[in-house]
Amino acid sequence: MSPSLGDMEPAEAESVYFNEYPPPKALPKHEALARAFIDLHVEANRRVVLVTSGGTTVPLEAQTVRFIDNFSAGTRGATSAEYFLQQGYAVIFLHRQYSLLPYSRHYSHSTNCFLDFMDEAPPVPGAPNQDHGSIVVRDEYQDQMRDVLRKYRYAKQNNRLLLLPFTTVAEYMFELRSMAKLMRPLGPNALFYLAAAVSDFFIPRSRMAEHKIQSSELPPEFQGGGAVEDSAVGGEDEIYTGENEAKPASQKKLVINLDPVPKFLHRLVDGWAPDGSMVVSFKLETDPTLLVYKARTALQRYSHHLVIGNLLSTRKWEVVFITPDPPHERWIRVPKARRSKSISGVEDQVGLAEIKKGEKAANSETS
Ligand code: PMT
Repeated sequence: MSPSLGDMEPAEAESVYFNEYPPPKALPKHEALARAFIDLHVEANRRVVLVTSGGTTVPLEAQTVRFIDNFSAGTRGATSAEYFLQQGYAVIFLHRQYSLLPYSRHYSHSTNCFLDFMDEAPPVPGAPNQDHGSIVVRDEYQDQMRDVLRKYRYAKQNNRLLLLPFTTVAEYMFELRSMAKLMRPLGPNALFYLAAAVSDFFIPRSRMAEHKIQSSELPPEFQGGGAVEDSAVGGEDEIYTGENEAKPASQKKLVINLDPVPKFLHRLVDGWAPDGSMVVSFKLETDPTLLVYKARTALQRYSHHLVIGNLLSTRKWEVVFITPDPPHERWIRVPKARRSKSISGVEDQVGLAEIKKGEKAANSETS
C-alpha cells in the first residue's frame, strides 16, 4: 500500500499531490492577469493581499456530476476584501466561483435581492415614451448604494481588485501556489489572508471514477467505465442490503473512501510565499472547547503570524486572534445590540483597520 499524503514530508506531498492533477485550464490566464496586476503594484510600492474566500469542492467523478462541498458563502472573504481596499491594499480575490464578491455582496444575498432595491420612476412629462419610466434605486437605498458604487468604481478604475475564481480543492491549491510564487517580488508588501473553507479530504485522481457513478447494476457489456480498479467509490460488497429496507438489493450503497489533503500552509510559509510576507490563516471549529487549542497548534506547527479562530455557529459575531506574541489570545466580539443590523458581522462592525482599537471597546460592551 502506498503511503498516505498526510504521512509524507511537505515537499514530497506537494510533488505527489500536484502530479495527480493537470493544472486548471484557467491557470495560465489567471497567472498572466496576476503577473500584470502584481507588476503594477510593485511599481507603486503598494501592499497586495491575497484573500482566499468561499468553499472548495471535492468531485466524486472526473466528469463531475456529484461533489462534496463546504458550507462557506464567502461572506468573510468578500467583506474583508472591502476593508483591505479601503486601507489602500490591492486585492487578489481568489474565490469560489459564484460565491459572494466584494461590493456586489451587498445586493446578492438571497435575503438581499437587488430587485428589492429598485423601482420604476413615473414617466417624465413630455418624454417620447409615456408607457414606462426609468428604473431607479429606491429613495431609502440611495445613500448606501451610492457609497458602495463609488468604492466599487474606484477599485475597478484604479486596478485595485483582481477576481480569480476556483471550484475544486485541487484548483484552489494550484492557484494558491502560483499566486504565492508570483507575489515574490512584493517581499514584505505581500499579505496572505486565507479565509476560504478548504476541504481536508479528497479522492485522488487515480482512484476517481471517470463517469457518473451508477446506483444500480449495469449489464456486463456496460461495466468498467464508471469506476476504476481500487476505486475510492464503492465496490461489489457495497450492495445495499439494509434491514427492513424496501429498496431492491441491486441498488448499491455508496461508500466513499477519501484521502487527506496535505496541509499546504507549511509549503506556503516555508516555500511559496515571499520572504518577509505576512500569513494569516483561519481556523474553523464547531466544538468550542477545541477552538483555541486547535488555533494555537496551527500557529505553532506552521510558524506564521496570526490564526483567526471562529466557530461555525458564532462566526459572524466573534473571532479569536491567536498570535505568537502577547497577549497570545484576543477575542473580538460584536455587541449583541448591533448584531441584527449587520450583514457580515465582525468585519462590518469593526473593520479590519479598526480591529485593534475597536477590540477593547467591543469587548467591554459585550454582554
Ligand atoms: O464564508 P463565510 O460563510 O463567511 O465563513 C467564513 C469561514 C468560517 C469559512 C472562515 O472564517 C474560515 O474559518 N475559513 C477557514 C476554514 C478552514 O478551512 O478551516 P480548517 O480548520 O479546515 O483549516 C485551517 C487552515 O488550514 C486554513 O487557513 C486553510 O487555508 C488551511 N488548510 C486547510 C485544509 C488543507 N487541506 N490545507 C490547508 O492548508
